Amino acid sequence: MRITPLDLADDVACRRAYDAGVSAIVLDRPWISPASLAEALVDWRHPEPGIRQEMVVALGDGDDGLPLDAVAGTATLWLSDDDNTDKAWVEVRVHADHRRRGVGRALVEHLVARARAEGRVEVLADLAVPVTDRADLVGHPYVAFAQALGFEQVAVDVNRHLELPVADEALDALEERARPRWEGRYSLQTHVDGVPEELRQGLCDAMNRLATDAPSGDVDFEPESLTPAKYAHNLKVLREQGRHRLTTIAVEDATGVVAAYTDLVLPAEPNPVVWQWGTLVVAEHRGHALGTAVKVANLRRLQADHPARERVVTGNNDTNRWMIDVNEAMGFRVRELCPEVRRRLEPAGA
Ligand SMILES: CC(C)(COP(=O)(O)OP(=O)(O)OC[C@H]1O[C@@H](n2cnc3c(N)ncnc32)[C@H](O)[C@@H]1OP(=O)(O)O)[C@@H](O)C(=O)NCCC(=O)NCCS
Repeated sequence: MRITPLDLADDVACRRAYDAGVSAIVLDRPWISPASLAEALVDWRHPEPGIRQEMVVALGDGDDGLPLDAVAGTATLWLSDDDNTDKAWVEVRVHADHRRRGVGRALVEHLVARARAEGRVEVLADLAVPVTDRADLVGHPYVAFAQALGFEQVAVDVNRHLELPVADEALDALEERARPRWEGRYSLQTHVDGVPEELRQGLCDAMNRLATDAPSGDVDFEPESLTPAKYAHNLKVLREQGRHRLTTIAVEDATGVVAAYTDLVLPAEPNPVVWQWGTLVVAEHRGHALGTAVKVANLRRLQADHPARERVVTGNNDTNRWMIDVNEAMGFRVRELCPEVRRRLEPAGA
């Protein structure tokens, strides 16, 4: 087996890597509606400024049961240069036909060596395991793989799905309960494909708190460093992918401060899925039911403008009772578990 960088300028190589990656994620998770190749290519070719992304492929060389030049697996390393510079993130996917031949191990060790060479001391990865009971994580192949590679579990996210449409009466009831707690002090606004310029700094300030404010188990994160310029870059990438983004924010009337936000992202049609991205109520503004308010408003807009979408997918740390309560009240139900795992590294040369 050879591990080589993926040549992002090579459309054929990219398609083969994409196909191998999709075969890995749909194998035992049939509910996944992967983003299209076209969307993936835009993503791969335009990482957010300040984040280095390195993609590699494992190619068979005719030995070890791996056909010559077959793409046996793919892996990606992300290195942020603007925050959390002690960490690296990895993702590895091994083609369904080529498992248990050491491909995953070789890919991870390759990227771990890169992370160590960059001075990173923690490598993080998310597993998506198609079980709903924590007891079933024990001994699951993906968990066993992570353990065999020296990763420890540091948190568990729970992925929930919301089947659409949610009945108006259910949304009315949630909204009526929340409204008296925020009305008169905050205003809600829903924006399509990005908030206006004058709100972007305030939104970025709120978004940068997500990594530190949301429970993250045993990992210490620094605040992120999203800026209006990076936000504009991310909107441009979404536009080029044919995606849409619905953002509802709560603005404090007296100060104009962005007190809460929630984001839904719609992969390009005809994908039936909608992804819930971040939701956050800034600490000083908690206790006014703004989490429910922004999420219900965003969902109403989604259902009005995109009636063909079939479900919303969200993930929350399993100790995030507050966000989970809001989600369960809306009708989200558990679909799979996503352990977050970490491997600590000795500094290079140590
Ligand atoms: C997890 C995954 C990457 C493993 O790839 P792989 O090439 O089959 O793994 P390897 O052959 O390198 O296995 C390395 C070690 O992991 C453990 N392992 C891997 N698969 C296992 C299984 N099905 N049962 C038990 N242990 C397993 C073993 O200890 C194995 O070492 P061994 O073969 O010497 O016993 C692959 O199943 C996959 O792509 N899954 C979907 C995506 C995913 O979960 N990625 C990981 C998070 S980013």
